[in-house]
Amino acid sequence: MTEKKTWSQRFESALNPAIARFNASIAFDIELIDHDLTGSIAHAQMLGHTGIIPHTEVEQLVAGLEKIRQEYHQGEFNPGIEAEDIHFAVEHRLVEIVGDVGKKLHTARSRNDQVGTDTRLYLREQIQQIRQQLKDLQTVLLDIAENNLETLIPGYTHLQRAQPLSLAHHLLAYFHMSQRDWERLGDVSRRVNISPLGSGALAGTTFPIDRHYTAKLLEFDDVYANSLDGVSDRDFAIEFLCAASLIMVHLSRLSEEIILWASEEFGFVTLKDSCATGSSIMPQKKNPDVPELVRGKTGRVFGHLQAMLVIMKGLPLAYNKDLQEDKEGLFDGVNTVKSCLQAMTILLQEGLEFRPQRLAAAVAADFSNATDVADYLAARGVPFREAYNLVGKVVKTSIAAGKLLKDLTLSEWQQLHPAFAEDIYEAISPHQVVSARNSYGGTGFTQVRQAIIDARKQVST
Ligand code: ARG
Repeated sequence: MTEKKTWSQRFESALNPAIARFNASIAFDIELIDHDLTGSIAHAQMLGHTGIIPHTEVEQLVAGLEKIRQEYHQGEFNPGIEAEDIHFAVEHRLVEIVGDVGKKLHTARSRNDQVGTDTRLYLREQIQQIRQQLKDLQTVLLDIAENNLETLIPGYTHLQRAQPLSLAHHLLAYFHMSQRDWERLGDVSRRVNISPLGSGALAGTTFPIDRHYTAKLLEFDDVYANSLDGVSDRDFAIEFLCAASLIMVHLSRLSEEIILWASEEFGFVTLKDSCATGSSIMPQKKNPDVPELVRGKTGRVFGHLQAMLVIMKGLPLAYNKDLQEDKEGLFDGVNTVKSCLQAMTILLQEGLEFRPQRLAAAVAADFSNATDVADYLAARGVPFREAYNLVGKVVKTSIAAGKLLKDLTLSEWQQLHPAFAEDIYEAISPHQVVSARNSYGGTGFTQVRQAIIDARKQVST
């Protein structure tokens, strides 16, 4: 079907079909349909409220728009590229349904303020959903933490064994990253939730519109104070993609750890069948596809952020068609973050089993208690640096002798320094090593127990 373009009166000849396809955004901005209808309903009501059109006509417009919503959700409204974009598609269908009065809907409005409104309504809703997903992830992290307060896991710096940790403490680090992500999205939301509607094409309108009225109906917190800024600002999308990128950084780091933990070399977790896959050729394999995909998908979100920044950097005011390119990246960014949060939450909830024996063996068989020997001496008056050097020596000789610190006899300890007593063995046991780090924010069990209580409170606010 070749259909007359909305703007065809101004043009001599029809659009080249390839250019029509190139120009059209309907294939992806159909995602905005519910928000487009909601925005149009508010606009129609404002036209009635201000007396720009009669109330009887408003009723017809609203009924027609609701009919389109119904048709769409029943699969009966599937606009093709002849519609160009969602805004034209809705307007065209509206005129089919309600007749000529439908042609009044676009009074005192432009697609420029319309698309900005739709995108903000879309993103506001998505941010709410993502924030809820972050809470779900946090709840699962806390459940695992609670059950593993005294499960120990090696802690690393430079991916070298450093000091043992409570597994709960390790997982709580991700809780706090998610908490910042949740807060950041709340902050972004404040700038998403501002109405550009009524900015017109770029300069406002000659009609006596009431922008605060539509803003109120659409539950925006405020309106753009400058019409040029209103139609051309995409800072909110960039900010979202930035916050989304940080969520992905955090998910990707957790993914990387899970992948390492699931390897034979670490052996800290087993992947359960519901969240792992096999190999087509190597029958022994169980692969961590979920965390690998999360790690892999992270790049897409970073890419969308970069693309959006580049789209904006050279744009003169006000609207330019370049801005149509904001949508696919934004939608994909939203969908990617949502699917990754969901997959990670399921993985943690039911796809991972920590291996307590492997973990216990790991923390018992290394020199990650060396700092505690130095601390032991320092607490008994030996200057820390001197104690550190003594322990360095004993680590070197123990490695050469194939021994661990716990294997040294008391007389060997006392040869090293007379301050050593029988209680050195207790002081360097992994449980005590963790327990003793009782400084605020540290891995000591008392700290972590309180941290879990505090975190539970944060989730429920
Ligand atoms: N489909 C367009 C977009 O996504 C809608 C706005 C078009 N405005 C215009 N002046 N051509 O940006």
